Amino acid sequence: MLSSQRKSTRHFMFALATVAATAAAGNSYAAGDAEAGKKVFQKCQACHSVEPGKKKVGPNLAGVVGRAAGSQPDFKFSKATKESGIVWDDKTLGAYLADPKGNIPGNKMTFNGLRDAGDRANVIAYLKAAAGAAVKAPEAAKTAAALPAEEHAAVNLSA
Ligand code: HEC
Repeated sequence: MLSSQRKSTRHFMFALATVAATAAAGNSYAAGDAEAGKKVFQKCQACHSVEPGKKKVGPNLAGVVGRAAGSQPDFKFSKATKESGIVWDDKTLGAYLADPKGNIPGNKMTFNGLRDAGDRANVIAYLKAAAGAAVKAPEAAKTAAALPAEEHAAVNLSA
């Protein structure tokens, strides 16, 4: 492809790559895409915010990756979540988001879970990116898109 062509189609290609990454998501999908995860997070944002300190009916998720489950002092967690002994990382979040009720029986998150493994990986990537950026959610997605990520190998953003 000519470089001039490449430039003019870059945004479109990026959108395509994101869609393709989402569509290709399956059990073998490993690395999450934060940009695609922002869309998945729309299912969570009625109850959760990634903006530090912002309160909703669910616990704030800013910096949740790496934290012990139910450890935020300003949210009244269920006993089940607090005593789960879980520390949130890719694996534990993946298992919880696949089946919240089955993973922590008795927890009070009224959410059926994300069936698609790719959706789970992407939303986890989004949570990490949002925490790293420590900015408002809309900005976090922009920042995530600007990160050099192998997932975007199909499009050379620095071209
Ligand atoms: C209907 C509201 C609701 C929706 C939708 C929802 N959650 Fe939750 N979530 C909660 C509540 C309430 C808790 C607290 C559970 C408890 O105390 O047992 C929680 C807990 C969590 C926790 C544990 C937080 C901690 O600090 O231990 C994570 C992680 C989480 N949710 C992620 C998500 C993600 C990601 C989505 C979207 C894919 C989502 N949730 C959708 C209400 C919701």
